[in-house]
Amino acid sequence: MRIQTVLVCLYFYLVFPENIIGLWWAVGSPLVMDTNSICRKSRRLAGKQQEICQNEKEIVAEVARGAQLAILECQFQFRLRKWNCTTARRSFAKVLRRDTRETAFVYAVTAAGVTYAVTQACSMGRLLQCTCDNNIPELTTDSSYRNKISDIITDGKFEWGGCGDNVEFGYLKSTEFMDARRKKRRGDITTLIQLHNNEAGRTAVMLYMRIDCKCHGLSGSCTLKTCWRKMPIFRDVGYRLKEKFDGSAKVIGSNDGKTLIPEGNTIKPPSREDLIYSEKSPDFCKRSKRVGSLGTKGRYCNPNSMSVGGCDLMCCGRGFSKEQITVTENCMCQFKWCCEVKCKTCVTEKTVYQCL
Ligand SMILES: *[C@@H]1O[C@H](CO)[C@@H](O)[C@H](O)[C@H]1NC(C)=O
Repeated sequence: MRIQTVLVCLYFYLVFPENIIGLWWAVGSPLVMDTNSICRKSRRLAGKQQEICQNEKEIVAEVARGAQLAILECQFQFRLRKWNCTTARRSFAKVLRRDTRETAFVYAVTAAGVTYAVTQACSMGRLLQCTCDNNIPELTTDSSYRNKISDIITDGKFEWGGCGDNVEFGYLKSTEFMDARRKKRRGDITTLIQLHNNEAGRTAVMLYMRIDCKCHGLSGSCTLKTCWRKMPIFRDVGYRLKEKFDGSAKVIGSNDGKTLIPEGNTIKPPSREDLIYSEKSPDFCKRSKRVGSLGTKGRYCNPNSMSVGGCDLMCCGRGFSKEQITVTENCMCQFKWCCEVKCKTCVTEKTVYQCL
């Protein structure tokens, strides 16, 4: 079974509601974390996945949580773009089946989300297989992290302690689950690309670990510090991967079909952190069943922007409508001791612009 089939299964059996209220409700709801269905629907999974499904159900629950985290991040990062990471079945499955930059992003952010969720579960004590990690952290490529370590070390008394994020475990489980272990067929460029992008996603978490410290000492003095490794916040992982999306590299298969090489001799080979693709993206302007594009008709846009989110780009030159709408929302919320939030209902007029 192909990796992409696994992903499609993951997403669809999690049931993604389309509206925001639904989304809010879905996050953390055990109803949509029905781990049995992921595994049932992917019965034909490759060895290691099946093993996890059978013997590590609690990991599957975290995988599901990671996939949700990922999709929400994808929708945030692409909210102003023509393709907005919609999980509408008729679109998403098609996009996942291609080999475009959008496909690359979805795979990467999902592998990152799974790494993140599993690691977090270790730290929160939800998994028996792993605990906090208090090994002395290795230096990574991230210079801010390196500087932080040297700051801590030079400024005196500290010890590693607390509850460090065991990102190696999350990384391992994400690899096991996402990189379906199957023989790489000769010439199967799609698989090679997906494996690369999965790795890029995990790397976007792994290489950017931070350090958090807590001071101990009389009245706020910092005679002793306890420090631990902490994952980057997931929003930053999303931004990093979005940057990689913007600079992603087009690749082609080498003659023997076993490796990937960048298209055009001048481009430097993509690193472990870069996203790669082999197929030009559709423009997502018009509705197209074939490529899974919903088109941009009806999308909101900003008439004053010349870049992403602007009506020019979003509407693909078709123009846009202007409309006055009434929005009802909670406002002037006050926190009442304890524990209640009281809000007023405000009705405001808003002008919205929508693509024709
Ligand atoms: C995403 O785009 C589709 C159509 O292109 C639209 O129906 C949907 O409302 C959009 N979602 C968000 C969150 O903007």
